[in-house]
Amino acid sequence: MKEIVAKELSKVLDLKEADILSLIETPPSKEFGDFAFPCFSFSKVYKKNPIEIAKELSEKITSRLFEKVEANGPYLNFFINRKKLAEKTLKKILKEKEKFGSSQIGKGKKIVIDLSAPNIAKPFGIGHLRSTIIGNSLSEIFKFLGYKTVKINYLGDWGTQFGKLIVGYKKFGNEKSLKKDSIKHLLDVYVKVNQDPNLEEEARQWFKKMEEGNTEALFLWKKFKDLSLEEFDKIYSLLNIKFDAISGESFYNKKMNSVIELMYKKGLIKESEGAEIIDLEKYGLGVCLIKKKDGATLYATRDITAAIDRHDKYKFDEMIYEVGSEQTLHFKQVFKVLELLGFSWAKNCIHINHGLYLAEDGKKFATRKGKTVFMEDILDETIQLAKKEILKRDKIKEKELEERARFIAIAAIFYGDLKNYRSNDLVFNIEKFISFEGDTGPYLLYSYARAKSILSKAKYKNTKLTIENLEEIEKNLILELNNFSEIIIHAQKNFSPNIIANYSFKTAQLFNEFYHSSQVIGSENEGFRLALVASFAQVLKNALTLLGISVIEKM
Ligand code: ARG
Repeated sequence: MKEIVAKELSKVLDLKEADILSLIETPPSKEFGDFAFPCFSFSKVYKKNPIEIAKELSEKITSRLFEKVEANGPYLNFFINRKKLAEKTLKKILKEKEKFGSSQIGKGKKIVIDLSAPNIAKPFGIGHLRSTIIGNSLSEIFKFLGYKTVKINYLGDWGTQFGKLIVGYKKFGNEKSLKKDSIKHLLDVYVKVNQDPNLEEEARQWFKKMEEGNTEALFLWKKFKDLSLEEFDKIYSLLNIKFDAISGESFYNKKMNSVIELMYKKGLIKESEGAEIIDLEKYGLGVCLIKKKDGATLYATRDITAAIDRHDKYKFDEMIYEVGSEQTLHFKQVFKVLELLGFSWAKNCIHINHGLYLAEDGKKFATRKGKTVFMEDILDETIQLAKKEILKRDKIKEKELEERARFIAIAAIFYGDLKNYRSNDLVFNIEKFISFEGDTGPYLLYSYARAKSILSKAKYKNTKLTIENLEEIEKNLILELNNFSEIIIHAQKNFSPNIIANYSFKTAQLFNEFYHSSQVIGSENEGFRLALVASFAQVLKNALTLLGISVIEKM
C-alpha cells in the first residue's frame, strides 16, 4: 500500500520511487491518515521551509486513490480511499492473473543455485530433501522477479567412499541384489567394508585408480552412479522437481589440476605431513585440505574448481549454495580461497544454510529404530495418509484418489518445511503436516478448492466491478492481497521462502473468516464478493507456485 503513496509522490518530486518509499512513515494515530511523508529533507533542495513544501505538495497530488492528502506542519498525511484501492487491487489481480506479484527487477541478472546434491550409492537423505525444497522455491521466487536462474544438482559422486564401495562390492556384493534394490544393497556393502579396517588401504587404492582413469574402477563407479540416479529420479519426478544441469563432483576430476597449479602460482599451498593444504588460520578459518598425502583430492578442492568452472560457463551475478548449516566452515573456506586466488566474484557466492529435521523427541531425524529412513518410504507413507484423509470426505475413483493424494502429500511436506525460517531446526512430523486443519499445506489447498467451488457454483465470469460497500473483513483481505508483491521482494532479499509461506497462511485465514461471516452467492454485493473470491484464489495459487506447490481444484 505504501507503494501507492510512493508512486504518486514520485510524480511530483524529483526522486526515485524506491528512495521515497524509505522515507514514508506510519503515523502514530489514525487521525494522521494511513501514511505520513516528512518534508524536512527537501528544504535544502527547494530552498523553502518544510511546512511550505508540504502545503504545495498536498495541492499537487490529486489521485482519486486518496480520500484526502493533508498538509500537517512539515508532514504530508495520506488518507487512502479504501473503496478505490480495493477496486484497483482486484482489477489488477484479475487482469494480471498468474503474473500478479511478479516484476522485472532482476532482468538481465543470472543466479546459479546449487541444490539438492544427494550422494550417490547412499539413500537420498532428509537434509537433501530440505535443500531440494528450499532451493527450488528460491529459484521460483527469483524467476518471478525477472532473474534467470540455473538450478544445478551437484551430485556427491566422487571421493574416497567410492573406493570403499568398489572393494565392498567386489567382496560382498552381487549383481542380482544390485539391480533389484541398488541403494539398499550398496548401503549394506558399505556398512560391511567399514567394519573391516584391513580393507581401508585397498579402498584408498581403488579411489586412486578412479582418479587416474582406471577402466575397471570407472566401470563399477559408473554402474553405481547410473543405478542411484534412477532411484533419485523417481523421487524428483514424484516431487515434480527439475534441474537445469546435473553435474556432480566427478565432473571436475580432470579440471582440478589446473586449479591446484594456480594455487601454487599464487603461493597459497603449503605442505604439511605430506599433504597439500591452504592455511587459513589468520582468517580464523583453520586449514583447507586440498590434496591428501596419497594424492587424492577432497571435497573442497572440487567445490573450488566447480565454482571457477561455473563462473566461466554462466557468468553468474550471484551463486547460492543451499546446503545444511553443518557445512558453514566448508563454504567459508571455499569462498576465502576463491578470493585469495584473485576472483573478485567470490563475494557473490553465498551459502544459504538450513537447519536440521528433528524427530519428535528432538533428536536428529536420520534414523528410526536404528534404521536409515528412506525417502521413498516417507513419501509413500505421506501419500497413504493423504488418501485416508480424502476418503473421510469424498468417495472417488482410485486413479483420481492417487493423483489428489500425491498433490496433497507434496503440499504437506513442502509447506511443512517452508513455513519455518530455513536456518531453524524443525520437527519432521508427517501426521501434523498432513492435517487438513491448522497451519498446513493441505489447509491451504483446501482454502483454494473452497474458493474455486464457490466460483464454479456461481458460474463466475470476470465482469465489471464496482464496490458499493466494504466490510472490515473484506478490507483486510484486500489489503493483504495488495501486499503480495512487497512480500515476494522481502522473501527474495532474505532468501526466505517462509515469508511467502506465512503470508499464504495469513491470507487463507482471512479468506476463511470472510467466507464464514459473509454470504457470497445471492448477496447484494455478489459481483464484488465473487471478484474478491477469484482474486484470493489467484493470489494464493501464485504464492503456492513460488513454494513449489501446485493447487488442485477439489480436495
Ligand atoms: N553432496 C553434499 C553432501 O551431501 C552436498 C553438496 C552441496 N553442494 C556443494 N556445492 N558442496 O553433503
